[in-house]
Amino acid sequence: MADGSSFYITTPIFYVNDVPHIGHAYTEVASDVLARWHRQAGDDTWFLTGTDEHGQKILRTATANGVTPKEWADRLVETAWLPLLSTINISNDDFIRTTDERHEKNVQLFLQRLFDAGFIYTGEYEGFYCVGCEEYKQAGDLVDGTGQYAGQQVCAIHSKPVELLEERNYFFRMSDFTQPLLDLYESNPHFIQPESVRNEIIQFVKQGLTDLSISRQSFDWGVKVPWDDTHVVYVWFDALLNYITAAGYGSDDEAFARRWPGTHIVGKDIARFHAVIWPAMLMAAGLEVPKQVFGHGWLLVGGEKMSKSKLTGIAPEQITETFGVDAFRYYFMRAISFGNDGSFSWEDLAARYQSELANGFGNLASRIIAMLTRYFDGVIPSPGELDAADEAIRTTERRVTVAADAAINRLAIHEALAEIWELVDELNGYITIQEPWALSKDPANRERLGTVLHTAVRGLGTLAVLLSPVIPDAAAKLWTALAGEGHVADQPVRSAWEWTGGPAVVPLEPLFPRIELPEADEPAA
Ligand code: MSP
Repeated sequence: MADGSSFYITTPIFYVNDVPHIGHAYTEVASDVLARWHRQAGDDTWFLTGTDEHGQKILRTATANGVTPKEWADRLVETAWLPLLSTINISNDDFIRTTDERHEKNVQLFLQRLFDAGFIYTGEYEGFYCVGCEEYKQAGDLVDGTGQYAGQQVCAIHSKPVELLEERNYFFRMSDFTQPLLDLYESNPHFIQPESVRNEIIQFVKQGLTDLSISRQSFDWGVKVPWDDTHVVYVWFDALLNYITAAGYGSDDEAFARRWPGTHIVGKDIARFHAVIWPAMLMAAGLEVPKQVFGHGWLLVGGEKMSKSKLTGIAPEQITETFGVDAFRYYFMRAISFGNDGSFSWEDLAARYQSELANGFGNLASRIIAMLTRYFDGVIPSPGELDAADEAIRTTERRVTVAADAAINRLAIHEALAEIWELVDELNGYITIQEPWALSKDPANRERLGTVLHTAVRGLGTLAVLLSPVIPDAAAKLWTALAGEGHVADQPVRSAWEWTGGPAVVPLEPLFPRIELPEADEPAA
């Protein structure tokens, strides 16, 4: 991808019925790493996140807590969702709330345009509705309940009973888009990723789409249908539009033309809304479809999708307070293949922290900087002639820079990290073989010692630049110790390997200090 191209990336907007857990944080961190990488590459990057505040689910939670839905949403946004962003160091450019005027007004504009173009009609609907999913369910989506719901049909995702609804609603002619969507998936194989999600969605659409009920009359917590204020807009129809209302649709044509289309990072459970309903809505409005919809896997706890409603939710602070923000970000990006499910375990987190971050990377940085301080008073020596081992490090720096960028462009964040770690491992091996401490004993080896430490410090600079999108705080500390110019987050990531070293180094505190775990086999759950 050429430098300077537009990169608009979004997370799903989160329901404010509850507080965030690490599953939500996972979506945020992955999107943030991609945004930071592209920003650091000089692309015209815009990163959007936000909250989904309308609908029956939020209304019920607010009512149960004795407040209005808007009061409830304000409270959760202030006390839980905005703080999440600082807890895990998210670099979003915008935060949209579906109760923002800029959103509500342009949801109405969009709907009116669809109505005027003949894509909306009135009809009757009767079906089973899951308030947890905010979605009508087909019989095939339901399973037999267990425990207190034994004998009832329940939603397969929420394990709670569905409700029979019968309403007179407005419908969107989604069935018109069965073939256009299939054509889109075929002509653009990257539109839905990964393959497993793509195949599932193609199978679903091939069965033929039915029209979609897009309004509700039985409650009023939502955007009013512009031509009939006895109806509110169906919450998913409202929510999906955040991606364009935040980008300037209806309010700033220039910004909209510059940002849209965007890349959507979503959990695989909501990929269907994004890869079927959303592009159909956009096609009907004559707008461009998204660039890509990527459905990532679930964080599993005890083999099940982690969720608050099933009481398996883990709050992000439970991890960051012990391991720090960078380790949180690194762990989830490294340990789980982006696109697959992954089991979270405290043991795995602690083991990777120790071997990869503390020993592999942190110690490498501390040792090289300590040797430069001891042998050269911190001044970075000029290199003599490079031998094959030094050249090999340069080659690896270049190779992993290119490979990591290619992996990021495929949204394979875990592969990018694996590539970068090849440099960490090679540098560790290089130091072991070159033995700078042995070279330091004989003044005749002074030039060689300088070459080795110069090569090593350049490698560290490359690592700081490449790792800044994933572990921004540690990368910034390292960059300061290397006396790199400016801020590490402004260093061009696609030419990370070209960094030639600053004038001197300054001492570095351990980047990933030893951690005393609360109890060896008793996680801080
Ligand atoms: N409000 C809708 C999205 C509207 S987007 C136009 C929604 N919100 S949510 O808060 O329930 O979920 C937000 C995201 O969190 C989804 O992508 C969902 O997949 C993700 N996750 C929730 N639990 C998760 C895990 N256990 N693991 C990984 N991601 C999880 O859906």
